[in-house]
Amino acid sequence: MIEITTLSELTIDGKLSLGVGASSKDLFDFYGDELKAWFHGQRASRDAIMVGAATVRADDPELTVRYCEGPNPLRVVPTSMGRLPLESRLLNDGYPTLVTVSRACPQATVEVLEAKPNVEVVRCGEHTADMVELASILHGRGVRTLIVEGGSHLLHSLFEAGLVAQIIIKHIPVISGALDAPTYLQAGEAGSTLGLSRWRLDDMFVKSGVGVSIYRPLAEAVAA
Ligand SMILES: NC(=O)c1ccc[n+]([C@@H]2O[C@H](COP(=O)([O-])OP(=O)(O)OC[C@H]3O[C@@H](n4cnc5c(N)ncnc54)[C@H](OP(=O)(O)O)[C@@H]3O)[C@@H](O)[C@H]2O)c1
Repeated sequence: MIEITTLSELTIDGKLSLGVGASSKDLFDFYGDELKAWFHGQRASRDAIMVGAATVRADDPELTVRYCEGPNPLRVVPTSMGRLPLESRLLNDGYPTLVTVSRACPQATVEVLEAKPNVEVVRCGEHTADMVELASILHGRGVRTLIVEGGSHLLHSLFEAGLVAQIIIKHIPVISGALDAPTYLQAGEAGSTLGLSRWRLDDMFVKSGVGVSIYRPLAEAVAA
C-alpha cells in the first residue's frame, strides 16, 4: 500500500497557473521562506514525487529538496510516448528519475531516455499510464509514500482511480484573471467517471501569508 498525497497551489479563482501555458513556478513568487521550507519538507518526507509529463514540458521542474534539509525523493514522470524535452533538468541533473511510458511507446524512445544520467524507464499502461499499475510498480520498488504535484490531468487520473489518501492545497492569495488557465482537475480524451466525493478538513494553517488546507477522505476508503 502506498500513501498518496496530492500537493497543489491554487489561486483564489481556482487556477493552477497564471495563464495557459504559463509555468506554475510563477506562483512560487508569492511564497515566503517559511512556506518554501514547509513545502520542501513535504517533499523530503516522501519516498517519491510525481508530476505529469505536461508539467515537465511547461515548468521544467527540478522536484528536489532545496529549501530545507532532507533527502530528494525518487522522481516519477508518466508520459504515454516518452515525450519529454531531452534538455529537461530532471533528465540531466543526475538525481534518480523513473519515467513510465505506455506499452505503445517505441523502444528507440525508451533507449534515448535511458541514456540520460540516472534515468530509468518502465512500461506502464497500454496507451496512458495505468495509475493502479503504477502504484504497484512503485510499491515493488519500496516506495511507501508518494507526493503528487500535478498537473490537472494527472490529478484527475489519480482521483478517478480512488488512490488519493491526502490532499494538500496551498491557497495563493491572487486572482489570476486567466479564465482559460488550467483548473484543479481536467479529464483526458476518454472523459471522466469521477463522481462526488466528500473530504474531511484535517488541518488548516497559514504560512508566509498563504493558507494551507489538508484534507482526508471522509470515509477512509482509499483503494491503493
Ligand atoms: N499549481 C500547481 O500546483 C501546479 C502543479 C503542477 C502543474 N501545474 C500546471 O499544470 C499545467 C500542466 O497540467 P496538465 O493537466 O496539462 O498536465 P499534467 O497532468 O502535468 O500531465 C499530463 C500528462 O501526463 C501524462 N500521462 C500519462 N498517463 C497519464 C494518465 N493516466 N493520466 C494523466 N496524465 C497521464 C501524459 O503525458 P504525454 O502527453 O507525454 O502522454 C499527459 O499528457 C501546467 O500549466 C503547469 O504549470 C500547476
